[in-house]
Amino acid sequence: MYNLLKGKRGIIFGALDENSIAWKTAERVHEEGGKFVLTNAPVAMRMGQIKNLAEKTGSEIIPADATNMDDLENLITKSVEILGGKLDFVLHSIGMSVNVRKNIPYTESNYANTEKGWDVSALSFHKLCQVLYKNDAMNEWGSIVALTYMAAQRTFPDYNDMADNKAYLESIARSFGYFFGKDKKVRVNTISQSPTPTTAGQGVKGFGGFIAYADAMSPLGNATALDCANYTVSLFSDLTRKVTMQNLYHDGGFSSTGVSNEVIERFS
Ligand SMILES: NC(=O)c1ccc[n+]([C@@H]2O[C@H](COP(=O)([O-])OP(=O)(O)OC[C@H]3O[C@@H](n4cnc5c(N)ncnc54)[C@H](O)[C@@H]3O)[C@@H](O)[C@H]2O)c1
Repeated sequence: MYNLLKGKRGIIFGALDENSIAWKTAERVHEEGGKFVLTNAPVAMRMGQIKNLAEKTGSEIIPADATNMDDLENLITKSVEILGGKLDFVLHSIGMSVNVRKNIPYTESNYANTEKGWDVSALSFHKLCQVLYKNDAMNEWGSIVALTYMAAQRTFPDYNDMADNKAYLESIARSFGYFFGKDKKVRVNTISQSPTPTTAGQGVKGFGGFIAYADAMSPLGNATALDCANYTVSLFSDLTRKVTMQNLYHDGGFSSTGVSNEVIERFS
């Protein structure tokens, strides 16, 4: 432990269960001395597991649907009160596609589903940034991170409309990152994470093959949820103050690998 986040305050979205990337991040941020409010959609609260995480990390929980501006206003105002000052870090770790959930192929998208998934997975990041920005809720040199996947750049057929949502999400990080940088000296980045066995990850069709393939293609192997938590801690820390408006690959080298020997052997 390095005490990298001592004295820092923030909000962590998206801890559903102990496999969640946000769950591991909350644990690591706590170990590094950061204080935070945990939040998730009211429906996820009913599953109750987040209470264990809150107890373990001495955090309060404020439910918020990340697509609802009133919920976001309430969350951010109350978090600043509870934590005793403006925020230094925010993690957006949220994703959901109704088309994926219902196994509807990309070529047969139901657009009501598409819009819902886009609102939850992508537009919610703009809404969150806007509420933080307008309320002047971030301290200078604060850091906002959202999680994404490389299907925003390359096609993975069964990732479905989440690919489009992630492309939109990454664009918001660049666009809002400009204004947050200029006006508030705040960083906004996305981390493009390896396939990870979580509830959202395992919802993607063929996930078992997908994660094994990525592992065989990555010189360092897939990055785990804990690896992602560690990387996020570094982006919340003061050691990365000039990193902003970036989509940062955190994938064991997958994104730069054309082919690996393991994969060639399978075809030889
Ligand atoms: N698991 C992977 O393979 C992988 C890879 C790259 C990126 N990601 C991204 O990481 C992030 C976290 O996902 P995860 O893999 O930890 O899965 P997860 O299922 O544990 O987390 C997804 C979270 O989104 C929350 N959520 C859904 N709708 C919401 C709403 N309306 N308001 C607020 N919260 C809402 C869920 O309750 C859940 O906590 C997502 O953005 C996901 O796309 C995941």
